Amino acid sequence: MTIRRLGETLTRKIAAGEVIERPASVLKELLENSLDAKSESISVSIEEGGTRSIVVRDDGEGMDADDLHLCVERHTTSKIAQETDLDTISTLGFRGEALASIASVARMRIISCVRGEKEAHQVRVIAGDVEGPLPAARAPGTTVEVEDLFFNLPARANFLGTTRTEFFHVNRVFHRLALAFADVSWSLKHDERTILTAPHASSLPDRIAQVYGAQVARAMIPLEAERNGIAVSGFISQPDLKRGNRRDQLFCVNGRPVNDRGLSYVLASAYRGMLRRGTYPLAVIRIDLPLDSVDVNVHPRKEEIRFAKPRAVQEVLTQALQSALSSRYIVAPFLAPRPGELRERPSSSKTKELPFDLRRELTVRQTLRQEGKARVSGERRVIGQLQKTYLLVETAGGLEIVDQHIAHERILYEELCEQFHQGEVTRQQFLLPVRLELSFENAARLTAGLKELEQVGIVLDEFGGGTFLLREYPSLLAEGQARYGFQELAERLAELLARGEKVREALFEDLLAELACAGAIKAGDRLPLEEQQALVERLMQLQNPYTCPHGRPIIFTISREELDRRFKRA
Ligand SMILES: Nc1ncnc2c1ncn2[C@@H]1O[C@H](COP(=O)(O)OP(=O)(O)O)[C@@H](O)[C@H]1O
Ligand SMILES: [Mg+2]
Repeated sequence: MTIRRLGETLTRKIAAGEVIERPASVLKELLENSLDAKSESISVSIEEGGTRSIVVRDDGEGMDADDLHLCVERHTTSKIAQETDLDTISTLGFRGEALASIASVARMRIISCVRGEKEAHQVRVIAGDVEGPLPAARAPGTTVEVEDLFFNLPARANFLGTTRTEFFHVNRVFHRLALAFADVSWSLKHDERTILTAPHASSLPDRIAQVYGAQVARAMIPLEAERNGIAVSGFISQPDLKRGNRRDQLFCVNGRPVNDRGLSYVLASAYRGMLRRGTYPLAVIRIDLPLDSVDVNVHPRKEEIRFAKPRAVQEVLTQALQSALSSRYIVAPFLAPRPGELRERPSSSKTKELPFDLRRELTVRQTLRQEGKARVSGERRVIGQLQKTYLLVETAGGLEIVDQHIAHERILYEELCEQFHQGEVTRQQFLLPVRLELSFENAARLTAGLKELEQVGIVLDEFGGGTFLLREYPSLLAEGQARYGFQELAERLAELLARGEKVREALFEDLLAELACAGAIKAGDRLPLEEQQALVERLMQLQNPYTCPHGRPIIFTISREELDRRFKRA
């Protein structure tokens, strides 16, 4: 083996490989520079997914001729000066290598004019060779043009995806920064088509509306918590608005968009039991904390960071998420406020503890009956049942319409989960076991899942030939379920067991949700007034009265103001 010292051009290309992976990484670096230069308006125009060209124009502080000459060299930055600066980085960039890296793998031109000056200059760099600075014309700000990315690195160029793929990544980078910097005015063009224009937004909901549409913005819930110098703010989606992947989740730590497994995990956990598996909430979450409690210099593309005390950050986030998700914002409003108004609305009003204690071994229905007379709670008065499906409830603020099935399902689900997590679901034995006949396929699935079923409170004896005897069932549900029968439910449980082999936690969650759904009062069931009242009161005592385990809303409100407006009483 012979060890050689590599030439400058080669080392630069190698270094560039870490930072510049694809057009989207070029764009990210250029946008970060524009933001660091305190731009108020940034426009991007790309061709062929960014492989042909990427042009970023900003109205930031700009660079003079000397800076222009320096900025394309490696390890040149205006953002840090000495080692200790690394501990308190407030800019997005600091490594001083982005422009140099881009310049070594593409054709680049930078035109810039310092704020308050008249004369502009430009430099041209082709695969590392610098030409200029030369006089040029431009209003204050900077334009960076990058063409033919990887033209001198055929191997890398071969790894690039189709225009569509590359554009997908470019678009994502752009959207994330647009969400992170709402007060900046943004525009994006692809092959001369305008993709997004987002003028300066005065609030995050306004920016969310620009990026995702007004409907999404209206379905977002505000988030807020602060402890020990760690501040969490932002917006998350109501559980009935969701996505099939995590792409629309953004965490900004001290303004920097980052990927962090810990934070993502906390977000996912907060929605447990509210979203089906494989669906994810939208989120734009800011976390601000002292600069020296975060190490931003742990990833070449600065996409990850390291918290000095990750647990502390996760705890504040958990707290913020929990209170947001049990807040009244989850109620679907009749006429939602404009996105900008969301902010000013008062935060969650705590439901007060009611002197109503449900004995665990009884079903809600039994208890409801024993409770006798309708109770008039200070906060909510049930007016009656609408079409044997919805409960109408008078509140101080107006009218709430509650879906009786989903409300009862949620109550049963939370109680079941509680019993399950405390170690045992209380079971009731049937005097006469219930006979179930299953298809050959489903019978095999039930047989394989007998142990799991027992853990959620179901005891079955296998009889052979697809026949089972159901001997015990969760006490909480037994009476209600008996009215609806067990046959169909058994088939559904068998299918769940077949699907849920991988993640046991999730399997139990699914099973419990299925049982709660099956045993809950149905739409079309007539309920006496006192049962309606008890149901609503019980619902309001839950941790999360606003959505069912499948993510559907439970309560729909019509405010007094809305009614007044409709009747022109204002
Ligand atoms: N759009 C811009 N406006 C003003 N200055 C810029 C711009 N882009 C780059 N610069 C200057 O060039 C320097 C080098 O940029 P870069 O290579 O990205 O390194 P870094 O951002 O880590 O400092 C920056 O520190 C900044 O001073
Ligand atoms: Mg930079």
